[in-house]
Amino acid sequence: MGSEWSAAQPVPFAIEVPDRAPKERYYDQGFYDLECEQLWPRVWQMACRLEEIPEPGDFTTYEILDQSVIVLRASDGEVRAFQNVCRHRGVRLVTGAGTLGGSDFTCPFHGWCYGEDGGNTRIPMRKSFRLENLDAADVALTPVRCETWGGCAWINLDDDAPPLRESIEPAATILDAWHVETLRTEWWYACHLPVNWKLAQQAFQEQYHVVVTHPQLVIPGMRYGARGAEFDPAVFIEAEIKYLRTMSDGMAGMVHASDVLVAEGLRDVDLPDDPELAMAAWYEMLNEAVVERRRAEGSDVPDLLDLEAKGIAEPMGYVFPHWFVLPMYSSASSYRFRPLGPEETLMEIWSLTRYPSDADRPRPVAPEVWAHDDPRWPPIPAQDFSNLPRQQQGLHANGFEYMRLSEKAEGHLSNFERVLDGYLAGLPHERLASALREVNVNPLERPVVDIEV
Ligand code: FES
Repeated sequence: MGSEWSAAQPVPFAIEVPDRAPKERYYDQGFYDLECEQLWPRVWQMACRLEEIPEPGDFTTYEILDQSVIVLRASDGEVRAFQNVCRHRGVRLVTGAGTLGGSDFTCPFHGWCYGEDGGNTRIPMRKSFRLENLDAADVALTPVRCETWGGCAWINLDDDAPPLRESIEPAATILDAWHVETLRTEWWYACHLPVNWKLAQQAFQEQYHVVVTHPQLVIPGMRYGARGAEFDPAVFIEAEIKYLRTMSDGMAGMVHASDVLVAEGLRDVDLPDDPELAMAAWYEMLNEAVVERRRAEGSDVPDLLDLEAKGIAEPMGYVFPHWFVLPMYSSASSYRFRPLGPEETLMEIWSLTRYPSDADRPRPVAPEVWAHDDPRWPPIPAQDFSNLPRQQQGLHANGFEYMRLSEKAEGHLSNFERVLDGYLAGLPHERLASALREVNVNPLERPVVDIEV
């Protein structure tokens, strides 16, 4: 099992044995430079949530490495993207987010202007330029490929990449069934982590660490621990409610507080004495009650029982290389990871939920950025953040050569790294298509799989 890249270029520190990841992939400057050259310019990236640009004229900026992209909601409702650079002398046109308010983008240096279609609308002292420098296409903003899906705008800096949808399956189909497009931002925080972006992301993509890193989530009597001769339905229900409450408080809403209230309202239900039947009955009742409650409020919650029946009630949907969403009952969390250097990452967390209407919701403009050791982080991410810098430091140890991955519990990490090697080898998109389908899935408990290119 493995991947044989007939590479356009050799990949340093490539994955040679699928369950061994050379440590240099997480700090080596040359490896990082190759990612900057061969990965980020070629992949679809979640650039913003659509509620960041709700009205015509609203725009925001998405930064990746040294590139900045303007994402704009035009008057016709379409979302467009442009390179954030004035075509005169290269000034970044805008910073952060804003609203055109009926006017054009205006460069702060000499006042060149651009309309919502990117076309140049004004050049002060136009006649002072040679005609050869005033070709309309040359003085318009440079367009960037942009598509929308799942309540987000996505950009790709590569004109030859396949369309978005093709590049993000099967996650797109599963997350469509979860109606992720109707989720909206409840809060949005960011963290500067002194670690490699892949290390940061992978800390959230396996469950092997949960028992030791988050011991508060191991609650006696809950879920599979409930099976056994001494099964007591009342103890099981209390344990389940405690788990949901811990996930809600500890992750600041990974299970939405309103869904915990629904579960608490079911505290006194009768369950069968058989643990399997009791668990099935509990989850059915809870799913049904959440859907009923949130739909009565006017929210577009999917039929959770139907998702369960179809076998797509996945707890995480991942889109290579840096975004995922964790739907839980009526709501969800979402994460995005961006490199700021070989050993520095900007990680963002959204808590997403559904509202009866978008009216009166404040427009999210930018996340509040906290240090990784800020005491305001809730317990669960704080525990992850305390491990990560120690892992980054540990990787530099002379006696440590590679990570030893569990073939069954940490398979996604290997699958991800081998798809990354395909990009770093410079393979064409058509050879990466089937490999992408192996990683655009629920990464939790995913085994090592064959990666075909
Ligand atoms: Fe933008 Fe001169 S650099 S107008």
